[in-house]
Amino acid sequence: MRVIHHIGELRQHLAAFDSPAFVPTMGNLHEGHLSLIRQAKPLGDVTVASIFVNRLQFLPHEDFDTYPRTLQADCAKLEATGCDVVFAPSEQELYPEPQGFKVHPPAHLADMLEGHFRPGFFTGVSTVVLKLFQIVFGQSRGTGHAVFGLKDYQQLMVIRQMVRQFALPIHIHGGAIERAPDGLALSSRNSYLNAKERTEAVQLSIALHALAAGVLGGVHNLAALEQQATQHLTQRGWQVDYLTVRRRLDLQAPETADLQAGQLVALGAARLGRTRLIDNLEF
Ligand code: PAF
Repeated sequence: MRVIHHIGELRQHLAAFDSPAFVPTMGNLHEGHLSLIRQAKPLGDVTVASIFVNRLQFLPHEDFDTYPRTLQADCAKLEATGCDVVFAPSEQELYPEPQGFKVHPPAHLADMLEGHFRPGFFTGVSTVVLKLFQIVFGQSRGTGHAVFGLKDYQQLMVIRQMVRQFALPIHIHGGAIERAPDGLALSSRNSYLNAKERTEAVQLSIALHALAAGVLGGVHNLAALEQQATQHLTQRGWQVDYLTVRRRLDLQAPETADLQAGQLVALGAARLGRTRLIDNLEF
């Protein structure tokens, strides 16, 4: 496995391949990321992972400075999983000057849910992903493939639409959420949880299951269901940003007909102590 820190060297190396399969990450890798690598491997003729903690997608009060940077351990995991190339640029390499040109996703997609609670988040994500796509796929002759985890459900939707609207020759694939045995969605931020919080953390997933069960059981008053689920977590000490049922298609609130038709997703984001967790459940 090659570990490459510079754009020029990566471009030169990838010029020998037709169709890279790419998994962008911010490092501190866990089984969820590795499953994306395994999914990517058969899609292209070279498997590339990037590791870059992207300042642009963090708000000033968020955990950019403390986000775990574990390059050596990450590379060992990637190599054992069969990744061919790791691109781990410095901040100076990727942003040698302030990034004045940015990708602003449309408000109807990016200002709700995560974007409402983390303003500018999807601008930061879209900008770095477009830049990484240019670097990784810029010289490929065939169609590229990129794999993103379904845990970041709205992010996947934003990236898909960006790729479609900019007519990028890249297929975007969604990778299933990997969960701990108790049902907690794997996340780099789970490492912030203390033992008590770790035991409690699965309640987010349980709340999403309760929302889905309510809808599947015929309850049409979504506001009441969402309030009940929020109250449940709040009483247990969580600070809930949102717990909601949306249409998978556009993440808009479902009409009654949508509730009957299915194709829904329950999404949640909530803080436990100093850790903000997100999760979702398609049903
Ligand atoms: O999902 C992530 O880890 C990040 O948002 C991504 C896609 C690597 C962009 O920094």
